[in-house]
Amino acid sequence: MLAGKRILLIIGGGIAAYKTLELIRRLRDAGAAVTPVLTRAGEEFVTPLSVSALAGTAVHRDLFDLTQEAEIGHIQLSRAADLVVAAPATADLMAKMAGGHADDLATTLLLATDKPVLLAPAMNVRMWDHPATRRNLAQLTADGVLTVGPDEGPMACGEVGPGRMAEPAAILAAIAAALGPRPLSGRRVLVTSGPTHEPIDPVRYIANRSSGAQGTAIAAALAALGAEVVFVTGPASVPPPAGVTVVRVETACEMLAAAEAALPADAAVFAAAVADWRVANAAGRKIKKDGSGRPPALDFAENPDILAAVAQRRAGRPRLVVGFAAETDDVVAHATAKRARKGCDWIVANDVRPETGIMGGAENAVTLITASGAEAWPRMGKDAVARRLADRIAAALA
Ligand code: CTP
Repeated sequence: MLAGKRILLIIGGGIAAYKTLELIRRLRDAGAAVTPVLTRAGEEFVTPLSVSALAGTAVHRDLFDLTQEAEIGHIQLSRAADLVVAAPATADLMAKMAGGHADDLATTLLLATDKPVLLAPAMNVRMWDHPATRRNLAQLTADGVLTVGPDEGPMACGEVGPGRMAEPAAILAAIAAALGPRPLSGRRVLVTSGPTHEPIDPVRYIANRSSGAQGTAIAAALAALGAEVVFVTGPASVPPPAGVTVVRVETACEMLAAAEAALPADAAVFAAAVADWRVANAAGRKIKKDGSGRPPALDFAENPDILAAVAQRRAGRPRLVVGFAAETDDVVAHATAKRARKGCDWIVANDVRPETGIMGGAENAVTLITASGAEAWPRMGKDAVARRLADRIAAALA
């Protein structure tokens, strides 16, 4: 899959460096040649010997070693690769990159390279959430730097949250995507994702359990194929992917306005779980118990159907409009009817009966409904569904 590709792999100083050893093995199994660079801090976590043994080549460690090879050794090293990968990419490395520092071999290579750069960030959750890291990430993304992860979960420091380095398999997939064809470059795609929150009063709202996982994976897969993605998201529990323009909204009405503002687009994917109803008489102040024991009466108004509104536009309709349908019975019949009713081109239908374990799970089993019929996809991870859908969208827009 990566035969003949040359990866310059920078190993930063973090406990996740042990996973980078596994990444080297997988890269070589996939046919890539790995040139490793170990930072000073990286040496505290993995040894030069284990890195060079796995890479099958010498490990570069010092800026000034290279001057013996040639006057401009680091320039050559930074250019003689198809892709530069930093894993783990620490908060410090990201800060230096964002600021354009070049005070050691790794940062000099990152500043001197003319090749795409992929980072696999890994750090403590507070460091990841810190405004400085957010700023640096935004700057790096704007500079065209690609990222994979971090994942959420328990970390070596004992805290829980986003900050764990992506698993080697995910980094390998991101490397393949970064080096692969980018059939969606120059295309703009709108993706809606996550739940909506509909206020009852200033402190309470009606919501649903959507995590935003499938929409996030779709946005990431489209971006990996080179699309410019506008990601309109309700308050999801999964963080938005890197490399997309994020527009945060709360209510269905705000989501409609943001979706329309994102047009024109070549394609639009509506993965959000939009509340069908909003509270028409939402209170401007916190609703108090009045002592009568009677609950407050809420009036509901129907929310706009964002998918239908965009799919049925006369002017400026995206060439391809994709909706979702969560069904518990007669999946194909219901989803086919929904496709016609809403006026979209495709419906991605999923069977959300509790026994499938799909709701809130990592896997999905979908049926793609198009003008030419229903196509059942095998059960697979939500990331794999997203990649397959992105490939289909790329083929449809080609
Ligand atoms: N959708 C939307 N705006 C809404 C409601 C839904 O954009 N106000 C989109 C969703 O993002 C999804 C599709 O429409 O792409 C789902 O349609 P919906 O009719 O809500 O289907 P279900 O959620 O499956 O509900 P039902 O079967 O009750 O119609």
